[in-house]
Amino acid sequence: MKRTKVIDALKCTAYGNDICVKGWVRSKRGSKGIFFIALNDGSTIKNVQIVGDDANFEEDTLKRITTGACLSVVGKLVESPAAGQASEIQATSIEILGDCDNTYPIQRKGASWEFLRTVAHLRPRTNTFGAILRIRHNMAMAIHTYFHEHGYFYFHTPLITASDCEGAGNMFQVTTKNLYDLKKDEQGKIIYDDDFFGEQTSLTVSGQLEGELGATALGAIYTFGPTFRAENSNTPRHLAEFWMIEPEVAFLDQEELMDLEEDFIKYCVRWALDNCKDDLEFLNKMIDKTLIERLEGVLKETFVRLPYTEGINILQEAIKNGKKFEFPCNWGDDLASEHERYLVEEHFKKPVIMTDYPRSFKSFYMKQNQETADGGSVGYKGAVAPGPTMQGTDVLFPSIGEIIGGSVREESYDKLMAEVKRRDMDMTHLWWYLDTRKYGSCPHAGFGLGFERLILFVTGMQNIRDVIPFPRTPRNAEF
Ligand code: 4AD
Ligand code: MG
Repeated sequence: MKRTKVIDALKCTAYGNDICVKGWVRSKRGSKGIFFIALNDGSTIKNVQIVGDDANFEEDTLKRITTGACLSVVGKLVESPAAGQASEIQATSIEILGDCDNTYPIQRKGASWEFLRTVAHLRPRTNTFGAILRIRHNMAMAIHTYFHEHGYFYFHTPLITASDCEGAGNMFQVTTKNLYDLKKDEQGKIIYDDDFFGEQTSLTVSGQLEGELGATALGAIYTFGPTFRAENSNTPRHLAEFWMIEPEVAFLDQEELMDLEEDFIKYCVRWALDNCKDDLEFLNKMIDKTLIERLEGVLKETFVRLPYTEGINILQEAIKNGKKFEFPCNWGDDLASEHERYLVEEHFKKPVIMTDYPRSFKSFYMKQNQETADGGSVGYKGAVAPGPTMQGTDVLFPSIGEIIGGSVREESYDKLMAEVKRRDMDMTHLWWYLDTRKYGSCPHAGFGLGFERLILFVTGMQNIRDVIPFPRTPRNAEF
């Protein structure tokens, strides 16, 4: 008999017909010679209830129906007398596809997140991780649909690269060399000419620079792939391997970039509300009672567009009024997550797009704002800053902090090269990037959304290790 997925069985109203379902036992209980099995096959958060008479089954079979066991059940679909479910199945035959003994590590309710990370190979079978992983899939579909519908082309950028996009130097190296027997020159520098690529290569931290090549040919592209950062930061917001979405668009200015960031995030959140109702309701009940309210709230809000300099003024004002921060926040300092969260959660109480950051801690490729005679600069809507600024546009979110990092790109070859010189950057491996500014350069802009940070927001989970199936973090590459 052909198998019906649980999600379809629960919708089916052909009462009286025989049906076959397969899945894993979530629980089994019995009373007065009747047993009840909650069976789940991952197609939905909901279980289908299997009802049977002990007398109709072998004792050995009944004993083997334990939490975690895998079953194939044939029986009659009937209307359920129980509350909270439309139908159930009156079992006529049960085949045990896979036994599961009592060493099964996830049968206890209320296991901690930390414990579940140690059994990441099995945690997708829990209700919560099932919900998160289905939402994760739906968010990926939302992203592809958004860009496809808006005329962007999915552009595949390399994972192995010889350049460092963010210039932060926290890259994982890729080599086939024997690390214990490296060829070195007289100065002790490693010679890569006999390595696989004949030069030093790493895993990419961002597809942006190649994405710009796509945008300046196809007009609008996006990437969606894994990126790698060897940041030794053990925080609930950082992974060593995470997925990033990077749209890059020709002829887009700062205001339009912010419009895109806001529209795109809202589209994703709306998609979750429209397509992940059961899973969100489950998470709202079990994980975070304000989740759905928060998601709906974001759709109603207009994101604040805030020059960095104004943000610093607000933070300084807060300090004057007694607010204590761990890290300093004077003009020129990179904001810590406590500062971002103060602005978003306490001051504005809505998402903030921060613009016009000081040049000192942003990337070389960002568009430089016009400088003034006194060493300051003029940025978004004529806002004045005391030092040189660039058209970065990061989106800061409640409970997450930075969810998007973006910018308008410097399209002038001369200005870009001036910045390269100021930073004393070696551009040998980026000669092709500079060509975009030599041959038909154009204004363009783009951003990177951290996929897992979006999933954190949409699920209400607190730790980024719990929204990706197999997290990679310092000292952890298991599974
Ligand atoms: O702000 P970032 O470093 O920006 C870039 O890489 C640009 N090249 C993107 C672009 O303009 N095309 O990273 C972008 C986003 C961050 O806002 C954050 O959401 C996420 O990527 N992110 C991380 N997520 C998880 N773990 C990490 N270690 C992350 N580092 C950045
Ligand atoms: Mg950033």
